[in-house]
Amino acid sequence: MSTPVDAHSLARPDQVRVQHVSLDLNLDFEGQRVHGRATLGLERIDTGAPLILDTHELLIEAVRGADGGERQWTLGEEQGRLGCALTIQLVEDEDEISVIYSSGPGAEALQFLAPSQTDGGRQPFLFTQGQAILTRSWIPLQDSPAVRATYDATIRAPRGLTVLMSAGSRNGPTPVLKESADSAPTDLWRFRMENAIPSYLIALACGDLVSHDVSERCAIWAEPGVLSSAAAEFADVERMVQSAEGLFGAYQWGRYDLLVLPPAFPYGGMENPTLTFLTPTTIAGDQSLVSIIAHELAHSWSGNLVTNATWEDFWLNEGFTVYCEGRIMEELYGEERANMEGLLAWQNLEQELKALEPWQTVLNIDLAGHHPDDGFSGVPYNKGALLLKRVEECVGREALDPVLEEWFSAGSFQSRSTDEWRKYLLGAFPDLPEQMDLDEWLDAPGLPADAPRPVSDALTKVDGELQRFAQGVAPAELDCAGWVTGQWLRFLNGLPADMGVKAMAELDQTFGFGANGNSEILFAWLRLAIREGYTDADASLEQFLTTVGRRKFLMPLYEELCATPEGRARAEVIYRKARPGYHAVSAISLDKLFD
Ligand code: BES
Ligand code: ZN
Repeated sequence: MSTPVDAHSLARPDQVRVQHVSLDLNLDFEGQRVHGRATLGLERIDTGAPLILDTHELLIEAVRGADGGERQWTLGEEQGRLGCALTIQLVEDEDEISVIYSSGPGAEALQFLAPSQTDGGRQPFLFTQGQAILTRSWIPLQDSPAVRATYDATIRAPRGLTVLMSAGSRNGPTPVLKESADSAPTDLWRFRMENAIPSYLIALACGDLVSHDVSERCAIWAEPGVLSSAAAEFADVERMVQSAEGLFGAYQWGRYDLLVLPPAFPYGGMENPTLTFLTPTTIAGDQSLVSIIAHELAHSWSGNLVTNATWEDFWLNEGFTVYCEGRIMEELYGEERANMEGLLAWQNLEQELKALEPWQTVLNIDLAGHHPDDGFSGVPYNKGALLLKRVEECVGREALDPVLEEWFSAGSFQSRSTDEWRKYLLGAFPDLPEQMDLDEWLDAPGLPADAPRPVSDALTKVDGELQRFAQGVAPAELDCAGWVTGQWLRFLNGLPADMGVKAMAELDQTFGFGANGNSEILFAWLRLAIREGYTDADASLEQFLTTVGRRKFLMPLYEELCATPEGRARAEVIYRKARPGYHAVSAISLDKLFD
């Protein structure tokens, strides 16, 4: 297998390749670090070459061979957020190396939460976030999506907390027998991931966690005070797995569990294998935001089975996944809901395209000189999904489905590039270029003219009411009976600019937006409130910004605040207070905004 060049890794897997990662780590909540040992199983390709690993701010104590003997190592110069290369001189034929280390104080992958940031308020919490290139800040390894390894882990954590990892088998705790008198009691937890996965999918969470079984293979994990609402919200998870299996082939990972994290989690969801990590802001009370489960589940095929070869191929993970998410949603909740969500995504993409630089709107993106995060936008997600919808339109679903299933099965546990997809697709449909310009879709900026725009009757109805509102019809006179979340979002996003405070107050009184328990609706409302200078929402805005760490919500709210000098001053005060509670991913993006 050839190894693509990954501009975001300093490792040389073409010379020596890591095949297994064995972790033996202590979770140190007081010191806010992990420390211990990572033992790496190696394949020697170029027998004279050293082993080169990615690290970011790791403190390396020692490197040893399987015989316990010390090995020579050097840390290269730091390459910004890519970190430092750890170069280890190997002795002849050795296929195992242990690195003894601890994570640095600002480890980007780790977020330690104070008890006050949890629902229970009594225990601390820790979670990791590996994607895209953060795993190297808590484990020295070859941190590239083109390198896959199995892993096992022995984790020592304070007694009373539960440890979970993205690994099929979760055993533990094993009582620790010998404990010195002066150290607090700890438990040992053991994990094993038998499938070879890319490094960004190694994940761990530790906190006061309990679970509820939904089916033989699906459970919901959450803090005790969140569990019952989480279990009700995600009760459809087993049905979703069954639907996905019917569409994309057998589920290859054993368990599919969901873990609801505290609100500081910077993403909506993260597809850690066997254990999707979720923001609690998806719990709306009416299952209206469960498409995120369909999305993370779909990654079990697009992303986790067939992985983007480099971060320039990120759309292969996310565009495929949004397409697959839509298929699951359509099958379980009907075409109307899938189309509605598709059209909302289209609307967001159109908005985003106006603000992005042309290079950022190319699917087959060139990230030379950029962090993978600079390529993060709705483009890989929604333009990517539209490309697959366009292919579907050209060749028909009946023809596309088996080709898609074959892409997943033939590419299982491997990494794939955009060019490999292009060749594969043209191999399956040689006449496709007569109907669509695949190269334009993949290599050109913007949205091609033949992008299929979803049609949603439910949203057309909203547009009619928006028009009546703009003509002066009072909110109470609008016909909004029975509207679902997607319709309210269309409504909020379509309200005229400069409505003024009086109109905002009327809307708030009629529909109670400011007290809405649905995070997407509340977010859209708060953004509007900032734009319109509706100060009644101030307290609610501050509450939201200081508890929720989800970057997708934080960025637009702070950006909207920063649009005026007074707003910016207020944003700075709130940010100063809130920043210590944000994950590095959100803080780094926001720091750029305030710079
Ligand atoms: N894998 C992504 C999250 C991610 C992407 C983390 C890039 C780090 C770098 C996850 O599957 C995702 O796409 N989450 C979305 C939700 C989804 C429904 C669009 C999110 O977090 O908003
Ligand atoms: Zn995703």
